[in-house]
Amino acid sequence: MLVDDHSSPSDQEKNTTTDQEEQPQQPLVIKKIACIGAGYVGGPTMSVIATKCHDIQVIIYDMNQQRIDAWNSAELPIFEPGLEEIVMERRGKNLHFTTDYQQVVDSDVIFLSVNTPTKYYGVGKGRAADLKYVESCARQLRDTIKSGRKIIVEKSTVPTRTSIAVKRILESGESKARFDILSNPEFLAEGTAISDLQNPDRVLIGGEDEESIRALSSVYERWVPKERVITTNLWSSELSKLVANCMLAQRISSMNAISALCEKTGADIQQVSFAVGKDTRIGSKFLQASVGFGGSCFQKDILNLVYLADHYNLPEVAKYFYGIIEINNFQRERFAKKVIHKLFNTVSGKKICVLGFAFKKDTSDTRETSSIFVCKSLLEERAKIHIYDPKVTKKQIMYDMKSIMNDCYDGDFSAKMESSRESELVESNIFVSTDPYEAMSDAHAILVLTEWDEFKQYDYKRVFEGMKKPAYLFDGRNILNRKDLETIGFDVYQIGKQESHMADW
Ligand code: UDX
Ligand code: ADP
Repeated sequence: MLVDDHSSPSDQEKNTTTDQEEQPQQPLVIKKIACIGAGYVGGPTMSVIATKCHDIQVIIYDMNQQRIDAWNSAELPIFEPGLEEIVMERRGKNLHFTTDYQQVVDSDVIFLSVNTPTKYYGVGKGRAADLKYVESCARQLRDTIKSGRKIIVEKSTVPTRTSIAVKRILESGESKARFDILSNPEFLAEGTAISDLQNPDRVLIGGEDEESIRALSSVYERWVPKERVITTNLWSSELSKLVANCMLAQRISSMNAISALCEKTGADIQQVSFAVGKDTRIGSKFLQASVGFGGSCFQKDILNLVYLADHYNLPEVAKYFYGIIEINNFQRERFAKKVIHKLFNTVSGKKICVLGFAFKKDTSDTRETSSIFVCKSLLEERAKIHIYDPKVTKKQIMYDMKSIMNDCYDGDFSAKMESSRESELVESNIFVSTDPYEAMSDAHAILVLTEWDEFKQYDYKRVFEGMKKPAYLFDGRNILNRKDLETIGFDVYQIGKQESHMADW
C-alpha cells in the first residue's frame, strides 16, 4: 500500500478513500515495487532499483516458471555485464523473483515490462505493436486489485496513447482501487544495461497525477541527480521513446548508406565518420557503419512510428522514417551478396565461418540480429555455415534459423517448424561451435558479424594456415586490423572501405 510518510494509519486509510483534491501535498513513500515481466528490461531495471533502495522490496513477477527458476538459479536467463553480481548480492534480501501474483497485488508501484512485439497478423501486420500482453496485464490487475491505490508504470516501449487503453481497462471493472498511470520508458542499451541504469543521461516520467510522478521520481532521485529526472505529459513521454530510437537508428542508417558510396568512390567510412562526428552539433556516437543494426527495439519502434504516422494520414512522415529500415535491409543484403560474389559467385557446399550471432557484443540476445538475415541469404545459396558466438546457445541459433527459414520469424509457429524441408536444411547446413578455431578451420571465408572483443585477440596467422585459399575475411563491424590481416595473406573486405582487389575476384 502507498503510505503517507508522516501520517498515522487512520490518516492513510482516509488518503485512499477521500477525493485527491483534498489531500495534503505530502510525499508518498514507496515500500514495495513489482515488475511484471522478467526479461531484458525488467530484470536489470529492477535489480538496479533493489541495489539502490535497500528499504524497498522489489518483486519481479513472470508467468513463465522456467524463466523465474533461471533467475533464482546460479545461471541467470540473460547475460548482461555486471548483472550477476548485483542479483547475487540482493536476491533473497530485497530482490525476489516469483510466479506468485499476490506479490504484485500487494505492491505500491507496478511496472509493466512485458514484451510488445510487432504484430505478425491482422490489422497493422508487420508494423503495429502487438499490445496483447500489455492488455492482458491490465485486465489481470483490474480483476485482482479490489481496493487501495496503485501506481501503474509503463516500462515496455509502447505506441503513443497506449496508456489510454490501459487506463480504460483498469477503470472498466468493479474494482474500487485508484490506479494512476505513468509512462517511464527505458533507455538502457543491452550490453551496457547496468551502467546505463546506474548513470542514466535522463529518466523520463510522463503522467497526469503530480503526486504519483513525485513518488516515482523520489525513487530514482536516490541515485540520479534531480535535474536528470524529466517529467512530461503521458503522450510526450511515450512518443519521446520512439523518437529517441528512431534518431539513433537513423544515424546508423545514414552511415550505412554512405558506406556503400565509400566503397564505390574510395572514401573511407571511418574517416568520414570521424570527421563528421567531430562537429559538436552532430557528436561521435552511433555513427559506426556496420552490417546493419539489430535488437528488439530499433526496428519495432520505427515501425510503431511509421504505423502511427500512417494512422494519422501522414504518409510522407511514414515514408521518411521507413527509409531507415529500408537502408538497414539493403546493408544486410549488400553484405551477403558481396560474400557470394567474392567467393566466385557460389557458396554452395563451401564452409563459411560466422563469428558472432548476438545483435551486438556483451549480450546473449539475438532478436533482429543481422546475423540471422546474412545466414539466411547464405543458406539459400546452400553454404555450410559454422557459427561461433561466445554467449548465444546452439538451441537459440537453431531456433532462430528455423524460424526465419520457415517464414515465421515474427510469430510462434513452432509446430510448422518441426519437420519442414526448411528445418531440415537448417539441421544439415548450420553448425554451431563452442571453439572459434574449430569453426574457422578449413573455411573458405570468415564473416565477423558481431563486434565481440575476443575476435580481435585471435591468432589469425594460425587461422589463415588452417583455411582454404584464397582465404577471405569479411569484417562486418570494422573491428579487425586490416593491414595485419593482409600481411598474413587474407583477402579482406570491410564495410565502407575500398577493396584490396578492386578487379573482379
Ligand atoms: C537501443 C537504444 O540504444 C536504447 O536506448 C533503447 O532503450 C533500446 O534500444 P539496444 O538495442 O539494446 O538499445 O542497443 P544499441 O546499443 O542501441 O544497438 C542497437 C544496434 O545498433 C546493434 O545491433 C548495434 O550493433 C548497432 N549499432 C550501434 C551500429 O550498427 N552502429 C553504431 O554506431 C551503434
Ligand atoms: P523485454 O526485452 O522487453 O524485457 P522479454 O521478452 O525479454 O522483453 O521479456 C518479457 C517477459 O514478459 C517475458 O519473460 C514474458 O514471459 C513476460 N510476460 C508477458 N506477458 C506477461 C503477463 N501477462 N504476465 C506475466 N509475465 C508476462
